[in-house]
Amino acid sequence: MEAFSVVDSTNTFASGWIERGAPHGAVVVADFQRSGRGRHGRSWSSLPGFNLTFSVVLRPKLPPDQIGILTIAACTGTAAAIDRFVDPLHTTIKWPNDLFLNDQKICGMLLEASWNTPGQNPAVVLGIGVNVNQVEFPPKLNGQATSLFLETGRTIPRADLFAAILGGLEAAFNRMEIDEKSMRRDYARKLMNVGEDVRLRFVASEGDVVGIVRGVDAAGGLVLETGEGRRVFHSGEVMRTSGTERARSEERGARSEE
Ligand code: BTN
Repeated sequence: MEAFSVVDSTNTFASGWIERGAPHGAVVVADFQRSGRGRHGRSWSSLPGFNLTFSVVLRPKLPPDQIGILTIAACTGTAAAIDRFVDPLHTTIKWPNDLFLNDQKICGMLLEASWNTPGQNPAVVLGIGVNVNQVEFPPKLNGQATSLFLETGRTIPRADLFAAILGGLEAAFNRMEIDEKSMRRDYARKLMNVGEDVRLRFVASEGDVVGIVRGVDAAGGLVLETGEGRRVFHSGEVMRTSGTERARSEERGARSEE
């Protein structure tokens, strides 16, 4: 384990460590990241002294097309650990790997794979940021982000939560090998927006898709019931929408086929 008061990004440090031979399970933790990174090229800012920001190196024995199972293991393992600290509340999962409490984000994950370490298993960095005891968030995040403290009214000892999450992750990665099916079921049970109309926004490209969430497939892809039938997506950001929007987009689809 490498522990820092300040680092650029624990994911960036872990990627460099992988090149120097970091083993499966190596952990990098920091109290503050100067340039914490989020999904879709966004930044992740987290105040020092309040939260958890760390990365775990994984060297899974998985082919590239099955790497999605890591997301499922990471979410179920982390969520199970956090749930023990927030009772009677419980976390939910926003596809693919955000954890929510009371409908607001409390944890984000950034999985970055590198498949080119010569002579070694492919390596993945799993970066996790948890809003633990933070009391205030920037106004632009109002209603979107919260912390375990704000939702439970309890100050949570970060070291205890960190140990619990690492234990939860270890259990989940073992479970991935022996009982993948029940792990998928746990993920599906916690998945938000199932049966609801959503808009899937593609951050890296033009256009988006509307449909009803039906669950995830074996590779962790989001299954949406769209105007063109069931489709599976492996990227994008889920946004709540209304059935009216889906009806309009189906109508547009029908018109363009006339
Ligand atoms: C997201 O929700 O966009 C993902 C956020 C991931 C943040 C964590 S904090 C620890 C690790 N190091 C980083 O630079 N990012 C991840």
